[in-house]
Amino acid sequence: MKEKKIILTGDRPTGRLHIGHYVGSLRNRVMLQNQGDYDKMFVFIADAQALTDNMDNPEKVRQNVIEVALDYLAVGLNPNKSTLFIQSQIPELTELAFYFMNIVTVARLQRNPTVKSEIKMRGFNNEEQSNFGSGLPVGFFTYPISQAADITAFKANIVPAGEDQKPMIEQCTEIVRKFNSIYGETLVEPQIMLPGNEACMRLPGTDGKAKMSKSLNNCIYLSDSADELRKKVMSMYTDPLHLNVSDPGHIEGNTVFTYLDAFCTNEHFANYLPDYANLDELKAHYMRGGLGDVKCKKFLEKVLNETLEPIRNRRKEFESDIPSIYEIFRQGCENAREAAAQTIDEVKKAMRITYFDDKELIEEQSIKYKA
Ligand code: TRP
Repeated sequence: MKEKKIILTGDRPTGRLHIGHYVGSLRNRVMLQNQGDYDKMFVFIADAQALTDNMDNPEKVRQNVIEVALDYLAVGLNPNKSTLFIQSQIPELTELAFYFMNIVTVARLQRNPTVKSEIKMRGFNNEEQSNFGSGLPVGFFTYPISQAADITAFKANIVPAGEDQKPMIEQCTEIVRKFNSIYGETLVEPQIMLPGNEACMRLPGTDGKAKMSKSLNNCIYLSDSADELRKKVMSMYTDPLHLNVSDPGHIEGNTVFTYLDAFCTNEHFANYLPDYANLDELKAHYMRGGLGDVKCKKFLEKVLNETLEPIRNRRKEFESDIPSIYEIFRQGCENAREAAAQTIDEVKKAMRITYFDDKELIEEQSIKYKA
């Protein structure tokens, strides 16, 4: 029998989605969805997970659920092909996470690199204390466990996500193995599906900083207008040593070229910059000297706009009927709950905690008490 292919992934609703999300995972999801070579695809808005580190502003999470929902639909996730849902509406996920908590140690969570670095980034640590000093919410600390529940509740075996999610998938795999070794083969081991190249893996911000992030104000959003896109591209970080057009330029760390790596195809050259056959030729010219940043930026703007324009337009259409978006997600939640409930059933059977249906247990104990 061919193994079932179940795809699952999600995003925290802390802001609109940007082109880093797009090349890191969204593009893969839509491609997988449209290839149709899978049994089921689940895509969800991880609002409960977002709350684990946004308790200073839970309203932000609440407001951004619709933004992510609109971005999902705008990029082409299709509710007729994929189950689109909201994490908090699936109580089975919390239930499963609670059982998983017993098979993960505190020490293992402390070693999870994502947890470790996010704690650092968010300033929970101070110099006197360990990373897990005062102020760290238990929910945040344990979110890798909750994420394992997200994945396993749907028996997902493919998780399209960025490199930063690798430690989460590894931890999930360990949980699956541990659970199965205690209770028998029940859960499915997931595999991460990473984007195709380095540039897509970690798209830097427009300022050249390591990561696109709202707080750094260096994002190009999927919903940016053509005008905003142009302005952002034109002010992008390039090569600080490339002062005159005639100077030899550097590609390494040059954000314009990183974005081109992530987005452009030979077709784009044929359409917008026919003097070059491909990106290698453009790079070679830039490194030789004699190619200006503005020309490269104008090309990049066209390349990006070719992808973003249809997304922007579809978003506008969906924005015109917000109640119908919530309806789509309500339906998705119902379908998702059914799938998760099925797994929870199997989990409880494996754990032998289905007391009321356990005739053997009831029989055995009534005999014990008759004796
Ligand atoms: N951790 C992911 C993020 O930060 C969101 C997420 C939650 C997720 N559960 C998941 C991703 C399960 C993949 C699979 O965006």
